[in-house]
Amino acid sequence: MPSEPVRLLFVCLGNICRSPTAEGVMRSLVVAEGMDGQVELDSAGTGAWHVGSAPDRRATAAASLQGVALAGQARQVVPEDFERFDLIIAMDAANLRDLQAIAPTQEGREKVRLLREFDPASSGERDLDVPDPYYGGEDGFGTVFELVRAACEGLLEEIRGERLS
Ligand code: 4NP
Repeated sequence: MPSEPVRLLFVCLGNICRSPTAEGVMRSLVVAEGMDGQVELDSAGTGAWHVGSAPDRRATAAASLQGVALAGQARQVVPEDFERFDLIIAMDAANLRDLQAIAPTQEGREKVRLLREFDPASSGERDLDVPDPYYGGEDGFGTVFELVRAACEGLLEEIRGERLS
């Protein structure tokens, strides 16, 4: 019997670099695994500065080098997101704190997780941030892409495991 899709919201500060990268990477993994329809994806920012903007061209270029397309227009997180999504996935500890502060309910707060918690290779690491690349050089965007890809692979494995069990 088909079950409800899992709904995932990726969140960073501006919604133009890290969270659109996570959304694009996850979408490409979901399609590659034939799981479209089982996972719904979106991204948003805790800040409003870039609302309406396309993903940063440096993030788009880094993703494109790896065959991943970024899309969408930045939006800010809204209280309804905490009901609409099953998991709200923060890119760094500051995003996590901000999301927990704006979650309208305890149930919503419990949906907030850090992306890199899902990367099995990062277990035991104290710093699980996907570093903010915005004010850095082009290199930072490649690093972000690799951190995001490893974590999204782990996240998809976890979702698949829960669907089978
Ligand atoms: P993001 O990166 O949170 O990964 O989208 C940033 C984008 C913009 C700014 C900071 C981080 N900003 O300060 O405008």
